[in-house]
Amino acid sequence: MTDSVLSIKDLAVEFRTDIGTTYALQGVSFDVPRGEVTAIVGESGSGKSVTANCIMRLIQPPGRITAGTIEFRPTVTDPFEIVGLDRKDPRLFDLRGGLISMVFQEPMTALSPIHTVGDQVSEAILCHRDVSKEEALREAHDMLVRVGITDTERRMSMYPFEFSGGMRQRVVIAMALVCHPEVLICDEPTTALDVTIQAEVLTLIRDLQAELANSVIFITHDLGVVAQIADNVVVMFGGRVLEIGSVRQVLKDPVHPYTRGLLKAIPGLADPGERLATIQSVIGDVDLTAEVAMVTLADGRQVAMHAEDVADRL
Ligand SMILES: Nc1ncnc2c1ncn2[C@@H]1O[C@H](COP(=O)(O)OP(=O)(O)OP(=O)(O)O)[C@@H](O)[C@H]1O
Ligand SMILES: [Mg+2]
Repeated sequence: MTDSVLSIKDLAVEFRTDIGTTYALQGVSFDVPRGEVTAIVGESGSGKSVTANCIMRLIQPPGRITAGTIEFRPTVTDPFEIVGLDRKDPRLFDLRGGLISMVFQEPMTALSPIHTVGDQVSEAILCHRDVSKEEALREAHDMLVRVGITDTERRMSMYPFEFSGGMRQRVVIAMALVCHPEVLICDEPTTALDVTIQAEVLTLIRDLQAELANSVIFITHDLGVVAQIADNVVVMFGGRVLEIGSVRQVLKDPVHPYTRGLLKAIPGLADPGERLATIQSVIGDVDLTAEVAMVTLADGRQVAMHAEDVADRL
């Protein structure tokens, strides 16, 4: 059995508003193997960010976690379950930004416009670790160098608005990593950046992950990005998990019709001579909202289908 840093079981989230209830997640279960990159893919509204926010316990009213558990097994402290933690539990403080940190799509949401970059990165250290201001500034400097910020001494006394979008995202990644989190969650961290900068930031995340050996959850709707960065893939649709496997299994031999549709809809991945398909044209009349059990195939991956439909693979 592989060692998982997080085990999510039967997670359900509802948003209750005046116009009705949205079932944002239903029966979501998957494991995050330690020291690897796990991508969560799916189209807009499939529940990727809600899943990440559950792990950080950031679901706010009108949202509510209605069922499920998230077992967290850090190496530095005893394991604990996240969903059931009291909101005053000190472990919740250790978790957010300490043991688990998150990088969002838009870097300015994580940065204060009125504090210098050096102060913000060092403050992230001081929040969670018992070190002097001088030591925090020194570590902040080293991490900024590591994420590729040049002329670091001068840039530490500059403000975020003086940085380009790509550089801001590097600063946010530095802030997320200075406390040596066991899990780094990246929620579409490159979507707001232009294509060449996207590739640089992706390479940075991959290199740092290999160097620091932490576990990464990488959220994206782009299977091209998944191929570049991930070891494992979780495919989501409509608040449910449809397929889980290694990146090779899922991209080379997708089992669920939806995953096949997702792959065929990527420019450049469709078979030569074949017209670019839409997801709908590939999946045909498969009812994606029907509740079906997750079955484990002979090669270890899991898929939400009727066992008889995949009998030859069991
Ligand atoms: N604050 C909220 N209030 C009401 N509904 C919400 C709220 N946040 C999320 N939802 C609903 O939960 C579902 C899942 O949303 P989520 O943000 O997780 O999607 P996503 O997969 O991250 O999409 P995207 O790729 O667009 O970021 C959606 O149906 C969304 O409308
Ligand atoms: Mg999202």
